[in-house]
Amino acid sequence: MTIPVITIDGPGGAGKGTISQAVATRLGWHYLDSGALYRIAGLAAARAPDIAPGELVSSLDLDIVIDDEGQVRYRLGGEDVSEQIRTEEAGEAASRLAALPEVRMALTGLQHRFRRAPGLVADGRDMGTVIFPDAGLKIYLTASAAERARRRYKQLKDKGMGGSLAALFADISRRDQRDAQRKVSPLRPADDAVCIDTTGVAIDTVIGQVLSLAAQTFASLKE
Ligand code: DC
Repeated sequence: MTIPVITIDGPGGAGKGTISQAVATRLGWHYLDSGALYRIAGLAAARAPDIAPGELVSSLDLDIVIDDEGQVRYRLGGEDVSEQIRTEEAGEAASRLAALPEVRMALTGLQHRFRRAPGLVADGRDMGTVIFPDAGLKIYLTASAAERARRRYKQLKDKGMGGSLAALFADISRRDQRDAQRKVSPLRPADDAVCIDTTGVAIDTVIGQVLSLAAQTFASLKE
């Protein structure tokens, strides 16, 4: 039996992280935050600028563990980088590195290894198009750039990080453009994806929509 996968793709700030984690928790499935892997790759590349990025990423000394509170922690070379990878700078570095085919290739096997029973919710940009093209349910989440900037602003503020709303809007627009226009695995919905616009929609409503699509799609959830 193939292990079921739900892919949740879309631009930054569309609510993918919150929605994917909630869906994974409700179903008791594994969760892949592929953006975190690109952010870690970005950090590693900034620390070792002399090593070719593809080479560096294929030999990452990375540990992914779940802490006592059930939170995923990322350790790079033994150091916990879970908070550091969430800054805007790390997101920008990730987006730049993500345009390199050799980096995407080096992260493919690692992403496939997250597919474990009873199922996987995979969050990213190319989960439905490239990494898990055989996923049973593919979701593409969007929201207006203004709304996504507002959400990022709130997220950063809640974490005690700074940044102006106008600067975030400019960052988001620039990163969207780069992610959508790159030659390899550009950000786009898979042909068979269900597109959901989350502008002005409560996050719980979207979670409910995804869970009901999952219940209609996967036989294992109907038992
Ligand atoms: O989802 P995020 O903001 O954590 O992702 C950070 C960057 O990584 C994003 O700008 C594009 C890149 N990325 C990617 O190219 N492919 C993925 N599957 C996930 C993220």
